[in-house]
This record gives sequence, C-alpha cells and structure tokens, in this order.
Amino acid sequence: MTERTLAILKPDCVKKNVAGQVIARIEEAGFTILGMKMIRLTKETAGGFYAVHRERPFFGELVEFMSSGKCVPIALEKENAVADFRKLIGATDPKEADAGTIRKDFASSKGENIVHGSDSVENGRSEIGFFFSERELISNR
Ligand code: RTP
Ligand code: MG
Repeated sequence: MTERTLAILKPDCVKKNVAGQVIARIEEAGFTILGMKMIRLTKETAGGFYAVHRERPFFGELVEFMSSGKCVPIALEKENAVADFRKLIGATDPKEADAGTIRKDFASSKGENIVHGSDSVENGRSEIGFFFSERELISNR
C-alpha cells in the first residue's frame, strides 16, 4: 500500500549541516518528497506537535530542543512508508539504533536524535496536515 509519512529534520540536524546527507539517505531509500520547507517552531507549536507526550518527564526538554533552531518538515510517500521510514531512521536512542540507520550515524543522544518519523498512517496524515496544506503536497514527479 502506498502510504504517506512525515519526517522532520530536527534542529540538531540543521545545525550540524547534515540535512543534505539525511535527505540523500531518504531519497536513496526510495521515498518520494511531496513537500518540504524550513521553519522555526515556537515553543507553543512544538508543544502542540508533540502534545501526546505532554505528561512525559522529557516534554519540557523536547519542546525546548524542537524550538531551539530551524527544522525541516518533509512529507514523504512510498509503499509501506511509515514502517520503512522508522526502519531507516532507527531506534529513538541512537545507542540502540541498528548500524547504518540515520540516528545511529548522525544522532548524539536520545533527546537530540536528528529526525522525526510518524508512528502510524493515521498520525502521518494528521502530522503532514500540521505542516502542509493540500496544495503544498505535489505528487507528480
Ligand atoms: P519521534 O516521534 O521524534 O520520531 O521519536 P520516536 O517516535 O522515536 O520517540 P518518541 O517516544 O515519540 O519521543 C519523541 C521524542 O522525544 C524525545 N525523547 N527524549 N530523554 C528522553 O528520555 C527522551 N525520550 C524521548 C526524542 O527527541 C524523541 O524522538
Ligand atoms: Mg514518536
């Protein structure tokens, strides 16, 4: 099934100047980029995006980090996109991520882990809608 998923290159990715390398990995893995932009989230917007985690002990740190610099949301499409993207990025904590994954190769900690990936098709749809309007999603290549 063709699916859509949302990636976000997080502020650590942009600051380390590896956004291009991470995008290359995504393209090499066969994902089609439907939409991409560079933005800086406010604390409010970052908190809204990660609202499911608001009761977690790391929420404050997560909001600080996600609003600490520019990020790059990317709407992606591919067969089995949600699971395949999670596989490409690796475990949340780079220490636990498989060899060759994006987080293993670029991330420095569980908090600052380079990239976000949606965890379900349903969340992918709403997360893409969080950042992109319909007309910003262009599926013909
Ligand atoms: P993401 O949503 O960003 O793709 O990450 P994920 O599914 O792999 O992990 P999730 O449990 O959804 O956590 C969201 C983000 O919160 C930060 N975090 N820090 N210090 C900690 O223990 C901790 N745990 C999570 C990470 O930035 C994680 O990606
Ligand atoms: Mg998550």
